[in-house]
Amino acid sequence: MSAPLLEVSGLTIAFGALEVVRDVNLSVADSKTLGLVGESGCGKSVTMLAIMGLLPEHVRVSGSIKLRGEELLGRPQSALTALRGKRMAMIFQDPMTSLNPVMSVGEQLTEAILIHNRTLARRDLQERALALLRLVAIPLPERRILQYPHELSGGMRQRVMIAIAMANDPELLIADEPTTALDVTVQAQIMELLQRLQAERQMGLMLISHDLGVVGDIADDVAIMYAGRICERGPVDAVFDSPHHPYTHGLLASLPRIDRTVDKLVAIPGSLPSLATRPEGCRFHPRCVYAQDVCRRVEPELEPVSSGSRAACHFAETAVVSQRAEASA
Ligand SMILES: Nc1ncnc2c1ncn2[C@@H]1O[C@H](COP(=O)(O)OP(=O)(O)OP(=O)(O)O)[C@@H](O)[C@H]1O
Ligand code: SF4
Ligand SMILES: [Mg+2]
Repeated sequence: MSAPLLEVSGLTIAFGALEVVRDVNLSVADSKTLGLVGESGCGKSVTMLAIMGLLPEHVRVSGSIKLRGEELLGRPQSALTALRGKRMAMIFQDPMTSLNPVMSVGEQLTEAILIHNRTLARRDLQERALALLRLVAIPLPERRILQYPHELSGGMRQRVMIAIAMANDPELLIADEPTTALDVTVQAQIMELLQRLQAERQMGLMLISHDLGVVGDIADDVAIMYAGRICERGPVDAVFDSPHHPYTHGLLASLPRIDRTVDKLVAIPGSLPSLATRPEGCRFHPRCVYAQDVCRRVEPELEPVSSGSRAACHFAETAVVSQRAEASA
């Protein structure tokens, strides 16, 4: 049996004295989607940049990041450059800042193809670039290939970004908020496209998102991040049907749903602490209605819970009972 596609364990990331991410464990299997969810600033993008080997050298990264069993942490940049694009690729939230405004769509696609296929003939290159535009369902690809990013709509630009990411048929695709800059209809189309590509290519997908609704629709597994740590992780059905961490519960309760009226929406009180003011003990305690003395002193570990997930909460089993009672009241 071949090794799992991506396995991250004990990942800790520090900018100088400030620890941004601590002890993150997650994995992505072939053809599966992992949703990574959390409030702005909780460490999602930094985690993705660490996996891609794109953090600046002065940032301290420890733990383990294995792609198909091969350790990536500590490998030289040249080795990581050889992997990026080819075996793992990424797409970002804002295609306007990731695409090069002075290069045509065709030039950017051929550049991506050439990085890993230096010897491809010019005609084959053009054909490959057109095929990629067709793959991401861009109409009139012969015309689009000559255009520049500013001539395309936001949705088209995101499709071009996805085409570039697919240029070398990666095994793992990491999408960091790929649709937040787009309107709702286009968001749905882009998510559909990602799902289709994933199914066709048996690719592993790591989807970073604020949007629990999107993650619930397409992910197999979900990891909820709070203040640089994973607070709950497991199969999406288990986490959504039976959240065991009060933060997860709050996120789900604040999710607008057709079967819930707006006045039942719950907001999580307070806000994410800054890096410098993260509290002792459970990082969520200043915002948690279930907090007890022990929560202010002892940081809970991510432990298995009855739903089949893992949650980092001293009262994962008792708090969830109260949450259920409240939700049904
Ligand atoms: N280069 C850097 N130097 C110092 N701190 C940084 C740097 N980059 C990010 N951070 C800090 O690391 C924390 C995590 O940032 P990150 O960008 O990973 O958050 P995020 O979860 O992706 O948020 P968002 O949802 O807004 O994209 C933030 O507090 C941020 O200020
Ligand atoms: S450990 Fe305590 S403060 Fe933290 S989430 Fe659980 S109950 Fe709330
Ligand atoms: Mg981010």
